[in-house]
Amino acid sequence: MCFSQVVWSLLLAVLLGGALTQVGCLDFNFSTFKKEDEHNLIITEGTTILLNAIQVTPDVANDPITNYSGRIFYSKPFRLWSKSKKITASFNTTFDLKITPDLSPKQSPVGEGMAFILAADTTLPQKSEGQWLGIVNASTNGSHQAKIVAVEFDTRKSYKEDIDDNHVGLDVNSIHSIEQVSLTKYGIKLNETYLYGAIKVRVQYDGKVMNVSAKTNKTSEYKLIFSLPLELSSYLPEKVFVGFSASTGNAIQTNCLKTWEFHSSHIDDEELEMLWALDYLHDGCEKRVLHRDIKASNIMLDSEFNAKLGDFGLARTLQQSENTHHTTKVIAGTLGYMAPETFLTGRATVETDVYAFGVLVLEVASGRKPGNQNGQSDYNNNIVHWLWDLHRQERILDAIDSRLT
Ligand SMILES: *[C@@H]1O[C@H](CO)[C@@H](O)[C@H](O)[C@H]1NC(C)=O
Ligand SMILES: *[C@@H]1O[C@H](CO)[C@@H](O)[C@H](O)[C@H]1NC(C)=O
Ligand SMILES: *[C@@H]1O[C@H](CO)[C@@H](O)[C@H](O)[C@H]1NC(C)=O
Ligand SMILES: *[C@@H]1O[C@H](CO)[C@@H](O)[C@H](O)[C@H]1NC(C)=O
Ligand SMILES: *[C@@H]1O[C@H](CO)[C@@H](O)[C@H](O)[C@H]1NC(C)=O
Ligand SMILES: *[C@@H]1O[C@H](CO)[C@@H](O)[C@H](O)[C@H]1NC(C)=O
Ligand SMILES: *[C@@H]1O[C@H](CO)[C@@H](O)[C@H](O)[C@H]1NC(C)=O
Ligand SMILES: *[C@@H]1O[C@H](CO)[C@@H](O)[C@H](O)[C@H]1NC(C)=O
Repeated sequence: MCFSQVVWSLLLAVLLGGALTQVGCLDFNFSTFKKEDEHNLIITEGTTILLNAIQVTPDVANDPITNYSGRIFYSKPFRLWSKSKKITASFNTTFDLKITPDLSPKQSPVGEGMAFILAADTTLPQKSEGQWLGIVNASTNGSHQAKIVAVEFDTRKSYKEDIDDNHVGLDVNSIHSIEQVSLTKYGIKLNETYLYGAIKVRVQYDGKVMNVSAKTNKTSEYKLIFSLPLELSSYLPEKVFVGFSASTGNAIQTNCLKTWEFHSSHIDDEELEMLWALDYLHDGCEKRVLHRDIKASNIMLDSEFNAKLGDFGLARTLQQSENTHHTTKVIAGTLGYMAPETFLTGRATVETDVYAFGVLVLEVASGRKPGNQNGQSDYNNNIVHWLWDLHRQERILDAIDSRLT
């Protein structure tokens, strides 16, 4: 890593904290679930972590477990697609589901099912138990507002459209599947997964096609259940939560998630791209270029809202011979963005560009102008000093623009 990249990374990590990194790629691997994993999950009431697994609907001995629905999500959303970049992320996920029917002498009928879900909203819809699998309810079913895509594992034929009581389906904003495949022909019975540990499922998405494969521990290879073209960006917002839902009705079962692994590709944020642009000027070019006037008004957005660094009016190319010093000697720039040493040395350097970029990052993160913060035209009141003051008072998070959170 060259010097400037280190500075960029530090600036972003320290000053922006979660603001930029909150939404990005997700990469996690729960080989078991422990009580402390609750911090990384969003769990609805009644959903519990029990015996190293998640019971998405309650599993309470001797208590009725009829008519429940539940959801669990990973606590952070991920960037599924970017309108400005016209790209969609890819992801792979594998998980183990274990469904146990009523084993008491009563032997209530088995139902209803579980689902892997991608959703805009983590809230469990009211009255989403029974036939609705915690995915939608009677009023959100079939509506674009539902903003949910689900891979369902259905153990009950609750509609005449359901092919049987042992199928996988793909649901888009609806409980009415656009594709259904019975697991019976693969030798898998969802209602018997408790006998051999779990059904292992793999969902793969490359931005265009979704593949769902499954196996039990009796077979070594995953078998492709379906492969469907699917534009997730047509149904879901840019940031989505991933997780599971499940339900019981008059028919009951326990709906248990035993393991969950998730890996997604990364879609860069605009600010990061700016950073690579500057890094390129400094280190990627044959001739180093000092921009010397980095500021908000020199950042241009193209028609697709991609950030570009513009106005090279003050830029200086460093010749190979000068390269060892990386400086140029005419004072220039915009007050508020200029590093303090500029006034002493009169030199523009790679470091003064970095300083200006830092001020720009602060401007974006705090939503403030770089100049004085309290009306007095004093150098010591600029954004950098203002921030150091907050830091000293241990109030650094107050600097974040509320519009960003
Ligand atoms: C996830 O964890 C399990 C169990 O520790 C391990 O077998 C598996 O290889 C891990 N997956 C990845 C991608 O590291
Ligand atoms: C479950 O919900 C259904 C439909 O709302 C209702 O008919 C049934 O009585 C409920 N069962 C129990 C045990 O509450
Ligand atoms: C469906 O869920 C939404 C959101 O929770 C709720 O506002 C609505 O009343 C529910 N519809 C029914 C029929 O319960
Ligand atoms: C759910 O919505 C679909 C349309 O997506 C519709 O065909 C189906 O009849 C609805 N199901 C119920 C039970 O309302
Ligand atoms: C379990 O699923 C199989 C396959 O669909 C079905 O034939 C059987 O009746 C189910 N068992 C119970 C107890 O519901
Ligand atoms: C499958 O899992 C069950 C329960 O964990 C275990 O008893 C059984 O031996 C396993 N079978 C194979 C073939 O690994
Ligand atoms: C889906 O499966 C098909 C057929 O095996 C394969 O060609 C394709 O690469 C797979 N796509 C993804 C995203 O896994
Ligand atoms: C998903 O899996 C495929 C095939 O194993 C791999 O090529 C791809 O890089 C993976 N994607 C992600 C985002 O992990």
